[in-house]
Amino acid sequence: MEKWGNHTRSTSSKNQINKQAGIKKPFTEVIKANIGDAHAMGQRPITFLRQVVALCTYPNLLDSPSFPEDAKERARRILQGCGGNSLGSYTASQGINCIREDVASYIERRDGGVPADPDNIYLTTGASDGISAILKILVSGGGKSRTGVMIPIPQYPLYSAAISELDAIQVNYYLDEENCWALNVNELRRALNEAKAYCNPKVLCIINPGNPTGQVQNRKCIEDVIHFAWEEKLFLLADEVYQDNVYSEGCQFHSFKKILYEMGPEYYNNVELASFHSTSKGYMGECGYRGGYMEVINLHPEIKGQLVKLLSVRLCPPVSGQAAMDIVVNPPVPGEESYAQFIKEKESVLNNLAKKAKLTEDMFNKIPGIHCNPLQGAMYAFPRIFIPSKAIEEAKAHKMAPDMFYCMKLLEETGICVVPGSGFGQREGTYHFRMTILPPVEKLKILLEKVKDFHIKFLEKYA
Ligand SMILES: Cc1ncc(COP(=O)(O)O)c(C=O)c1O
Repeated sequence: MEKWGNHTRSTSSKNQINKQAGIKKPFTEVIKANIGDAHAMGQRPITFLRQVVALCTYPNLLDSPSFPEDAKERARRILQGCGGNSLGSYTASQGINCIREDVASYIERRDGGVPADPDNIYLTTGASDGISAILKILVSGGGKSRTGVMIPIPQYPLYSAAISELDAIQVNYYLDEENCWALNVNELRRALNEAKAYCNPKVLCIINPGNPTGQVQNRKCIEDVIHFAWEEKLFLLADEVYQDNVYSEGCQFHSFKKILYEMGPEYYNNVELASFHSTSKGYMGECGYRGGYMEVINLHPEIKGQLVKLLSVRLCPPVSGQAAMDIVVNPPVPGEESYAQFIKEKESVLNNLAKKAKLTEDMFNKIPGIHCNPLQGAMYAFPRIFIPSKAIEEAKAHKMAPDMFYCMKLLEETGICVVPGSGFGQREGTYHFRMTILPPVEKLKILLEKVKDFHIKFLEKYA
């Protein structure tokens, strides 16, 4: 005990000294472009969402003239769904009924009338919770019959972490960088056939729009993936948390659910699909509320029972997060008092992100030794960087991945914090980093200029 106490004291006093000594860095602030946390980067909350959550949290405000009637009406409805009319009660493990109904109506509107059943909707603690729960229910077997989970490379690391926690088998399929990170069914087939030799591939995950790669898959590609899943009897996991984040002209978000339905009853009645959404991304950026939902279709009734049982272990998702999710799926509509302000705020965030996506792509592609695919959606650039062999050798001498070495140098020399591509997976011998486009425009311009200067100097130094 005493030893730890001393250790803590000596570490903190060392930190004090460092702070006082003020070790000089060649920058005045660290710009955090490493994590998709919009509010932390200065994005303002959507007023309506916060009004409803505030009203639900402190219902005395329902008497206040400062809140619009449409927000009060939403709050009353949510509170009626809560035990004792309080956000402080546990809810059903699957989430509050009326919110699941709102989610189902949202999905139907989004998908042009394709039916959605509230009973297939599960409110979750962010999308992460739903993804982990579904994986937990799907993984089984031992040795060569252990469940294989196909994930894109580059991937969002929640997947590799959840797979490893469950002792499942990660099966990589590579996105096609030369073709704007498209998903190619031949590559899926290659990955599946190779994996069959050492595991039982049962699950196929797709992230669309992509993180970290920012692509938006086209309709044909999604049809091909669904056909492949049907043929191979794979359970589809469609991570669609960036469904509102589509920027490039000619790109459009297509939900897996809608396309599955439109492919006809043979597909719609057979392919098992879980799709995920969240309050964390889109125009809301409410990561901290931990709101989300999943829609699961064609799940065998017995497995569904097991899923509900599994979810009930964590009692229920945060109720404030459920309320926030309700506003995402049930926002103000034309004719309501808050509509004009809501649309203005939503469009302002999304237009701004679209502008930054284009700016980032253009700036990166002007830098020699960097190539960046169009940021069609999501919130990230994943440029490919050329790292000279001398730098690769030096990285090896430091026992670091070359792109980690590059990112550490970038941080040390400019204060810009990005994530090395090796954290997401990439083709052998290629190097990338992931950078969010969340900093405000003016800061983003400075950031991109700094990356440019750094990269040119880096190339000169290791030429
Ligand atoms: C592709 C993807 N899926 C899931 C998540 C998890 O989001 P949540 O905050 O809803 O758990 C993220 C977060 O960045 C993500 O990028």
